[in-house]
Amino acid sequence: MSKTILLTGASGGIGYAMARVFAEKGYNLVLVARRKEPMEMLADEVNKKYGIETSIVIQDLAQEGAGKKLYEAIDHMGIHPDILINNAGFADYGKFVERGWEKVRDMIMVNILALTEITRMFAADMVRRGSGKILNVASTAAFQPGPLMAVYFASKAYVLSFSEAISNELKGTGVTVTALCPGPTQSGFVERAEMSSSKMFRVIKPVSSEKVARYAYHALMAGKVVAIPGLLNKMSAMSSRFFPRSIVRYFMRKISDPV
Ligand SMILES: NC(=O)c1ccc[n+]([C@@H]2O[C@H](COP(=O)([O-])OP(=O)(O)OC[C@H]3O[C@@H](n4cnc5c(N)ncnc54)[C@H](OP(=O)(O)O)[C@@H]3O)[C@@H](O)[C@H]2O)c1
Repeated sequence: MSKTILLTGASGGIGYAMARVFAEKGYNLVLVARRKEPMEMLADEVNKKYGIETSIVIQDLAQEGAGKKLYEAIDHMGIHPDILINNAGFADYGKFVERGWEKVRDMIMVNILALTEITRMFAADMVRRGSGKILNVASTAAFQPGPLMAVYFASKAYVLSFSEAISNELKGTGVTVTALCPGPTQSGFVERAEMSSSKMFRVIKPVSSEKVARYAYHALMAGKVVAIPGLLNKMSAMSSRFFPRSIVRYFMRKISDPV
């Protein structure tokens, strides 16, 4: 029987690319996001091409209790995902005190709260069944503070720390947890974060979402705990350990400033 993967943030970018990779490997998909149309297009394409089954759940993960609602919807469909990918997330660019509170709050809800609630619900079921794989999408942003994207960088530090800790707690249960830490990647991310004026995506050349998705697939299958695609990203993640934090903050501000 085909295995099923539950994937949040499947309507664009890295999530869309990951859905394609898992479909190609024969997994049935449960796609979650707010925008229905791109997920319907994806479902049409992969169902025909790979003979799999795709379900779509429209859910705003910034809403209070969204994780529980999603869990109940999936349970009602009689689906028990073998793999969970918490990919939905977004950033916001600018000085913290000058950014609108609503967007900052929604970012915390999606990047942290929904991810934690969804992991809590599905991981418990996986432990009961004695098998499962979870991939939480963090970022290279998890490894240092990010002036002008303070809450986003902090949210990804949370995702990395949380994922590493529970991967340890779940040892021996048959459930693995992987924190994926991509660097700049081509997707809807820059537009959504309103960061086209930032130097960041000019200093570091973004890679394709497909490349990140293929790397993520192999890292998840291998049960890697921390997965950083690309040598440059690995080096940048490591480098923050060797410099005083004041230098790291200074450097991060320099590459985040407007052009
Ligand atoms: N691109 C990069 O450079 C980069 C680097 C490191 C990490 N990441 C991480 O990679 C993940 C995917 O981002 P991306 O780069 O692929 O950006 P993207 O193209 O903007 O995709 C973001 C996805 O998250 C979903 N999402 C956003 N807010 C949501 C909400 N309130 N409820 C439900 N779904 C929501 C979006 O769907 P809807 O809008 O349809 O709801 C979309 O499918 C994020 O966690 C991001 O932080 C990205």
